[in-house]
Amino acid sequence: MEIKRENLIATLGGEDAVARMDSEAKADALEDFLSTELDKILLSTDPFPTVAEVEAKIPTRNYRMGAGNLFVATAPGAKVKVLPPMPDRPTLYDFFALRFAPANHVLQSAALAMKNGMSEEIILACLLHDTAQALLKADHGYWAAQLYEPYVPEKTAFAIKYHQALRFFADPAYGYEYPDLYRRLFGEDYVPLPHIRADYEMLKKHPWYEAPRLVTVNDFYSFDPKAKISIDPFREIIGRHFKQPKEGLGNDNSPVAHMWRTIARPDMAL
Ligand SMILES: [Fe+2]
Ligand SMILES: [Fe+2]
Repeated sequence: MEIKRENLIATLGGEDAVARMDSEAKADALEDFLSTELDKILLSTDPFPTVAEVEAKIPTRNYRMGAGNLFVATAPGAKVKVLPPMPDRPTLYDFFALRFAPANHVLQSAALAMKNGMSEEIILACLLHDTAQALLKADHGYWAAQLYEPYVPEKTAFAIKYHQALRFFADPAYGYEYPDLYRRLFGEDYVPLPHIRADYEMLKKHPWYEAPRLVTVNDFYSFDPKAKISIDPFREIIGRHFKQPKEGLGNDNSPVAHMWRTIARPDMAL
């Protein structure tokens, strides 16, 4: 990957800002920049690959595409970093700050949902919908719904779960088109897996169809590295709808506590 020095420096706030950064901050900034550059490649204007071409790339990598973001450094030559420790009783905010960060995509999706006047259940779904990608990307909507089910309204978990299936199907009534990103990731001739097609058929007749559809409509991709959205505008909604366990996420003995612990400590060897 070719890196333009002036672009990198500009995204960091200019030469003076770079001069004030210590080497660790510079390393972190470089990694963020590289991942943003990779995102740009995903949205490039190159011809879409076929399914066979996507598959042919598998043995060229030393990681699998389904691995969670915490577990791989995908930029060429990059290494994973030492993560800051979590507090003893971690909250959702701690996970956002220390494990999901920068979380720009979900924060921007939630901001768009808020701007579009969505219900609080849907704004919360947008805020959380892709965060399980820290753990796993494959089937991420299903993982995320399971991760959040004990703590959020039923409709929010439903919206998170099924946004993944509806992402594969256009719905002109909502102005939702099949994303080019998917043509690039899966191949232009890709046919969604049977469980995705079956869930789509189920959802078309479901009274809550609109909930996951609205997540897909507000599923906002922006790769502006300067766009940093805070979680602050969503604190009231989180306070009203997220049942933060007093023992901390991962310590509450819920059926999904181990999933939170794995996100908190992804360096555990076993
Ligand atoms: Fe998603
Ligand atoms: Fe998304």
